[in-house]
Order: sequence, then C-alpha cells, then structure tokens
Amino acid sequence: MRGPWLIALATVFVGAARAADPADTIRHPRAHFRVADPASLDPPAAETVYRRLLRTMLRGYALSGEPGASYAGWRRYNRHPYRSATHGERYVNNYANRVARAYGRFENAGKLPPGSLLAKDSFTVTAAGGVYPGPLFLMEKLAPGTSPETDDWRYVMVMPDGSLFGDTTGDNSGAVAFCAVCHGTTPETDDLFFLPPALRVRYPRTGARE
Ligand code: HEC
Repeated sequence: MRGPWLIALATVFVGAARAADPADTIRHPRAHFRVADPASLDPPAAETVYRRLLRTMLRGYALSGEPGASYAGWRRYNRHPYRSATHGERYVNNYANRVARAYGRFENAGKLPPGSLLAKDSFTVTAAGGVYPGPLFLMEKLAPGTSPETDDWRYVMVMPDGSLFGDTTGDNSGAVAFCAVCHGTTPETDDLFFLPPALRVRYPRTGARE
C-alpha cells in the first residue's frame, strides 16, 4: 500500500517544484495569436506582429541571465523584421549595445571591441498564421586571445523559454559550433554579415519615425 502513496506524494512535490519554476509560466507563451495571411507579411504587418510579441519574447529570454538578453534599449539596425534564411527562415531583428555601436557603420565597422554584444531576436509565423517567439541569437566579443578558434566571438543561442541551447564557451558548445563555422567565413568584416542594405537603419535617424 505504501508504494502508490509514495509515488502520489512524489508527483505532488515534483508538480509543486515545477509550478514554482518561473520558466514554467512562460514555457508555453501566452501571446499566441494568428495573422490572417502569413504568406504575405508585408513590412508594416511584420512590425505589428513583432510589437505584440516583443514583451513575451523579452520575458522569456531574460530568464537565461544572459547580458545580451536585455537588448530592449539598444539600437536596432533594421527597419522592420525580415526573414533570415540562415537563421531558420524566422523573422529577425538586429540589435547592438553601445560598445558595439561601430556596427552601425556596417562593412566599414572594422573590428568590434571586447564587450561588444549583438543580439538577433526571432519569431516564427506558421503557414496557418500562428505566431511564436523564436530563439535569441547572441554574439559577444571576448578579450583578445580568449577563444582564437572563434576569432574571440562567443556565440550563444537562447530558447524562447530562456533555456540555453548552447554557448561556444560553455554548456553544449557543440550545438552552436555551426554558428562560428558560418560566421568565420567573413574574417574581412570581423565575422559579421550585417543585413540587406535596403533594410538598414543609419544613426542618427534624422526626422525618421521609429
Ligand atoms: C549559414 C550561415 C549562418 C549560420 C549557421 C549562423 N549565422 Fe548568424 N548570420 C548569418 C548571416 C548571413 C547574417 C546576416 C543576415 C541575416 O540576418 O540573415 C547573420 C547575422 C547574425 C547576427 C547579427 C550580427 C551580424 O553578423 O550582422 C548574430 C548576432 C548572429 N547571426 C548570431 C548567430 C548565432 C548565435 C548562430 C548559431 C546559433 C548563427 N548566427 C548561425 C549567417 C549565419
């Protein structure tokens, strides 16, 4: 008779522990909504969807504790979310922190200094019009010589619930090694790719609407 009771009790405890985990409250983001015609998300529609989703995305990413997850106040270098073939056909945005402000000179940026953080958030729109937060892609420039095999860039992928998919300098480094392989093909621009010229925002934005 004791066996089933112990199992029941253990289940209750595990359940309680789970409920107490803040990650659980956003593991299934509550911001699910649908867009009418996902195949033709024009720039204003993409921006509207993004604005509705951003708070949920930020809340999820923040649970990772990654400094790059607090990109909300940084400059965004794209006019509106665009689809990135190299990041899973998700809609993405590119942000850079103050240390990395030379990013805004794009191909003329030179080597970004240590402490530079680049954040690329993402969301998915399914064929049926469902909208979901996607991973956060981060690059952090480390001190010279820290990670020669990745040209001193640290690559991190954070899942929408804040869990870490991988970190080239830490946990699950193998899972994100492909980031450095692809980015490492452009050493002439410090392993950066920037974004399609038509989508670029140049600062200061004189008279431009955000
Ligand atoms: C197959 C090539 C490829 C892979 C793999 C790849 N990226 Fe990128 N990455 C790009 C390209 C191209 C851009 C710029 C255009 C765009 O957004 O699609 C970019 C842009 C970025 C940026 C903005 C900085 C920049 O280069 O302008 C970050 C941050 C980033 N990627 C992080 C990652 C992380 C983290 C991973 C791995 C989880 C990853 N990338 C995997 C090709 C790649």
